Amino acid sequence: MEISGHQLRCIGCGRVIEQRELKEDFRCKECGNLYEVVYPSWSEGMAEIRKPNASAMRWLWKERCCSNTEADQSGVWRFREMLHILQDEANIVSLREGNTPLYELRKAAESTGIEQLFAKHQGMNPTGSFKDAGMTTALSVAHELGFDWVACASTGNTSAAMAAYAARAGMRSLVLIPQGKIAWGKLSQAMDYGALTLQLRTDFDGCVRVLSEVVKRAPVYLLNSVNPYRLEGQKTPALEVAEAFDWEVPDHLIVPGGNLANSSALGKAFLEMKHLGLTTRLPKISVIQAEGANPLFRSLKENGGTTLHPVEAHTRASAIRIGNPASWKKAVRVIQQTGGYCEQVSEAEIALAKAEIGAEGIGCEPASAVTLAGLRKLMQESKVQSGERVVLLLTGHTLKDSDYTIAYHRGDLLKAEEINGLRPEIEVTRRNAVELDASADQVLRELEKAAVR
Ligand code: F0G
Repeated sequence: MEISGHQLRCIGCGRVIEQRELKEDFRCKECGNLYEVVYPSWSEGMAEIRKPNASAMRWLWKERCCSNTEADQSGVWRFREMLHILQDEANIVSLREGNTPLYELRKAAESTGIEQLFAKHQGMNPTGSFKDAGMTTALSVAHELGFDWVACASTGNTSAAMAAYAARAGMRSLVLIPQGKIAWGKLSQAMDYGALTLQLRTDFDGCVRVLSEVVKRAPVYLLNSVNPYRLEGQKTPALEVAEAFDWEVPDHLIVPGGNLANSSALGKAFLEMKHLGLTTRLPKISVIQAEGANPLFRSLKENGGTTLHPVEAHTRASAIRIGNPASWKKAVRVIQQTGGYCEQVSEAEIALAKAEIGAEGIGCEPASAVTLAGLRKLMQESKVQSGERVVLLLTGHTLKDSDYTIAYHRGDLLKAEEINGLRPEIEVTRRNAVELDASADQVLRELEKAAVR
């Protein structure tokens, strides 16, 4: 099957450019907005010379799952007709990412009253987060362009993914993280994969500011999600979800919101699938933020998403502790195009939702749990109905932030004033570890107590 090359289109002024014209900060030199990747032969608004055949592509993508080549075994690159961003496929840097599980959440379905509730678990990727899907694409581009160094500012997961993929490619990586504000699991990954890891005495937004100056002064390739090639890889979970439902899209997809690239990427994928005739409709895409890091929620509420005022972000869900999200305009567009919503959830709601997802034998990191907490809010407001098929996008593995989990189960994560009316629900889900002497009697006593609980 023939596939075409790509161009880049500014989401603000619509200017279309070639890859070689991209600036190091990936912003439009005319209007300062971000670019999105477009494909001249089939993207909406382009010349539409020859759209690929939808059923042939569906068949080919499935067929590749049985192949032994690296690209075919990747859940990202097996969809390469939708992300033709490389000149030469030999430049692909892959860790066999993607092809992540779609789990049915039976207990959460019962407790929320949603009949069909699923979790697409992107934490089941090689470095434990959804970032791998976008890192394989953007880092492969960096590799093809001949860069030695790649760099990102991160709340932890991007840096872990970048460091791993750079190491695979034999490249060097520079990580800027806010000191003391990322989970240990993520910091340990950057170190283990050999990144130059710099902890700056600022927050994530401060790290972004510093890095934007660094990329202008040193030949390092920026791998934050302003890089449009990241979003091309992050489209693929949407393709996997559609494929898993035999190309019937779910009614609603619920996504955590931080820097707001992921919601944008998934929305782009569903819009492209519909445009190509792979699917016939769009799911609503809703974005959930933590109350203390809610600039998009505020923007949509206060001015319909026309301007965004950065906030100073505070939440224990450190992955989404972001006050000035780069991709907010893309996210607003996706919410509006798909008829979705933006909600905010409290620290106690996030913690409880995380424990509930854990109790299904699945688990996720705190930022991912905003999706279940957000679903509850959306149901209370009648924005989701019980008959809808809903997919929660879980973005990170539970082991990323075990300190948070242990503090929750010990009962010292949340302050009394944060818990409000949720104490009974929280107490039911807490499972603290019990310390005992090495005695069978004592173990049996605990077993008896647990059996009646
Ligand atoms: N969930 C997790 C686990 C994340 O790590 C992030 C972002 C998000 C959700 C939000 O996604 O930014 O596309 O809206 N983490 C970035 C990082 C910022 O540096 O790892 P988003």
